[in-house]
Amino acid sequence: MLSHQIHCQYFSQEDLLASGCLDVRMAMQATESALKAFHRGDVIFPDKIVQIFDDDTQERINCLPATFKNHKICGVKWVSVFPPNPAKHGIQNLSAVIILSEIEHGFPIAFMEGTLCSNLRVGTMGAIAAKYLARQDSKIIGLIGAGEQAKMHLVAMKTALPSLQHCQVAAKTEDEETQFIQEMSPILPDVEMVASHMNLQAAIEGADVIVTATSAQAPLLKAAWVKAGAFYSHVGGWEDEYGVAKLCDKIVCDDWETVKHRTQTLSRMYKDGELSDGDIYANLGDIVNSEKKGRSSPDERIYFNAVGLAYADIAIAYAMFKRASEAGFGQDLRIQKEMIFEHAYLKNWVRL
Ligand SMILES: NC(=O)c1ccc[n+]([C@@H]2O[C@H](COP(=O)([O-])OP(=O)(O)OC[C@H]3O[C@@H](n4cnc5c(N)ncnc54)[C@H](O)[C@@H]3O)[C@@H](O)[C@H]2O)c1
Repeated sequence: MLSHQIHCQYFSQEDLLASGCLDVRMAMQATESALKAFHRGDVIFPDKIVQIFDDDTQERINCLPATFKNHKICGVKWVSVFPPNPAKHGIQNLSAVIILSEIEHGFPIAFMEGTLCSNLRVGTMGAIAAKYLARQDSKIIGLIGAGEQAKMHLVAMKTALPSLQHCQVAAKTEDEETQFIQEMSPILPDVEMVASHMNLQAAIEGADVIVTATSAQAPLLKAAWVKAGAFYSHVGGWEDEYGVAKLCDKIVCDDWETVKHRTQTLSRMYKDGELSDGDIYANLGDIVNSEKKGRSSPDERIYFNAVGLAYADIAIAYAMFKRASEAGFGQDLRIQKEMIFEHAYLKNWVRL
């Protein structure tokens, strides 16, 4: 008789961390190969499904699927964004889970915590952009914002640019800057960390790599602070004055068609008639696939903005799944023991 058992593996965030999945190099490899697979037509990438529960607060849950035909893997990220959570309830505003299924029989293989993967993907896109677009001798990184994305971006940038040795950070409060330095110093002991005491200009002073990752909706970063040769990774919404993009020699996005319909600085500029399609140099995939060159001179200022390609999340999640299961982490999760009418006790369980 055929077995009708269905199992998958469950991975908590701690399982993923303990098995070495916070690995930007692994994530960069998975993402670059995903960008190439997409280019070859090996990725099924439907539109995301958005369910907004409150138009004012933008509390929402999004469903983002993707399939890699080459790996025979289909996955979905189910991500909740509840912006009022921190102020209203003192809890985080983001949570996510990921499901992976194999597509030979269509069965689920993994159910995992998803914020680690999601945040790692954001940092990884920045790291891949830095690999092609930043000066490889970059020494100083300046960060505006000291939250989750800023922390992950720092780890990612240091992986892509090992020459980084000095980090200047500015946030909305000194406490956040201090906490950032306390958390990041043990992870990156060879990077000297300096708090900017909420002085944003001081954080950007002399920076070869600039990252803005804030919850602000304001033109925080000024064009005059961006030195020749700088690479800028824009992570949040509206956080730089229009002059920054205008000053930059190249503007690169993860996907300009997606970016232009959002609420980032570049999207605002597009809607205000301050930026047109022709001003965008390339999508990151064009550069990874060698269709466009990356940095071509040491003095270029380069602007990078990613809003998220969900197939990259699934590619990273699959790499994490392989690493964590090979390392023996995760728990067996029995989805089904038998088919419904095979259960011996069904007559006791059914409600008529
Ligand atoms: N591009 C992407 O793919 C992507 C993915 C996830 C999140 N995000 C965005 O990244 C941003 C940061 O997310 P997070 O999870 O790190 O948020 P967070 O709440 O953890 O951190 C936000 C940071 O912004 C700082 N900040 C806010 N206003 C500021 C101001 N006026 N001056 C200086 N610093 C200020 C805060 O001090 C804090 O350090 C958000 O806008 C989020 O929507 C982007």
